[in-house]
Amino acid sequence: MNFVNEDIVTLNRISITNLLQEIGPDEVSAEIVAGLEADQKSISSKFFYNGDGSLLFEEITRLEEYYPTRTEKGILKQIAPKLMKQYKGYEIIELGPGDHSKISILLNAAAEMNPAFLRYLPLDISQPALRSSAESLVTAFPNLLVEGYAVDFFSQFGQIRREHPALICFFGSTIGNFEWTDSIELLRNISLQMKKGDVLLLGMDLVKPEALLHAAYNDAQGITDAFNKNILNTVNTLIHADFQTEHFDHLAFFNQEKSRMEMHLVANRDLSVHSPFFNEDLHLKEGEAIHTENSHKYNARHIQEIAEATGLKLNHTHTDEKGWFAVTEFQKL
Ligand code: AVJ
Repeated sequence: MNFVNEDIVTLNRISITNLLQEIGPDEVSAEIVAGLEADQKSISSKFFYNGDGSLLFEEITRLEEYYPTRTEKGILKQIAPKLMKQYKGYEIIELGPGDHSKISILLNAAAEMNPAFLRYLPLDISQPALRSSAESLVTAFPNLLVEGYAVDFFSQFGQIRREHPALICFFGSTIGNFEWTDSIELLRNISLQMKKGDVLLLGMDLVKPEALLHAAYNDAQGITDAFNKNILNTVNTLIHADFQTEHFDHLAFFNQEKSRMEMHLVANRDLSVHSPFFNEDLHLKEGEAIHTENSHKYNARHIQEIAEATGLKLNHTHTDEKGWFAVTEFQKL
C-alpha cells in the first residue's frame, strides 16, 4: 500500500471553507464581555467546545446518566436503512457534526446502495474538528466527497454553497441550547433556504421525569461539573481574564416554566476578575451565578409549533421505546 498516494486521494475529496474569519476576534470578545457585564451574567454555551471542552463532552456522552447520545444513535440505527433509501441521491448537510459517529450511521446505510458518489457538508465552528472528521470519513467511505464549512450556523447558514435535494441533519438536541424564540428564528432561516422536497432531520431531547434529567446533568463522576467550569478556561484565553475555576460551583436544574435544563456557575466566595477587555474589574458576590447553558426539553406541542412556525411538514416523529428522545423529520413542500 502506498500511503503517500492514499493521502493525496484523501485530500482530493475534501474541501474546507472557513467563513468564521468574517466574524473576527473583536466580535467574539465583545460578545463575552457584554454577557459578563449584564445584570444576569452569562456566557454563551458555544464557548464550551474548545479542545478540552469537546473531549469532556465526548466523555459525557459515554456516561451512564447521560442518555441523549446513545438514545439518539439507537433511533438513527433503526431508521437509517429506510430513510436513506427514501432520500436516495440527497446530499447531506450536517450542523454541528461533533465526532461524526451519528452521520456515519446514515452514511453506512447510504453506502449500502452503492451510489456513484455521496456529498456530505458538515458545518461546525471548529475547523480542526472538521478536518480530522473529514479525513476519517473519506477513508471509511470511498465514494464520499466532504465539503466542510467552519461557520457560525446561526448567522451564516445562507452562505453555504449547496445543491438540491438536501437532507439537513441537526442532531444532538443542539437546537435546545438556543432560547425558544432564537431556535424558531434559526429553523425558519433554514426552512427559507430549503427547496421543495428537502428534508430536515432534527434531534430533540424530550420532556421526561425530572430525576432523570437532573442525573444527566449532575453525573456522579463530576464530568459535567468539569465541563461546565472549563468554559471559564476558554473565556480566560479569549479575553485574557483570570477566572479561577475553583471559585465556582456547578449548578444544574430543571426550569419547569421554560421546559429546560439550565447550567450555571455559582461563585463560592466574593471575588473579582480582571480582563483588559472589561471597563473595570468584574465583581461577583458569593452565591452569584453566571448562566452558561440552556438545554430545552420538548413535547409534542413544541414539535407542532416548530412545524407551524417554519411552514415545514412534519413527516414523522421517530422516537425510542421509552420516548426519551426524538428525531423529527420535516419536509419542505
Ligand atoms: C451537546 C448541547 C446537546 O445540552 O445536553 C451535556 C451539552 N451540557 N451536558 C446538552 C451538555 C451538559 C448537550 N448538547
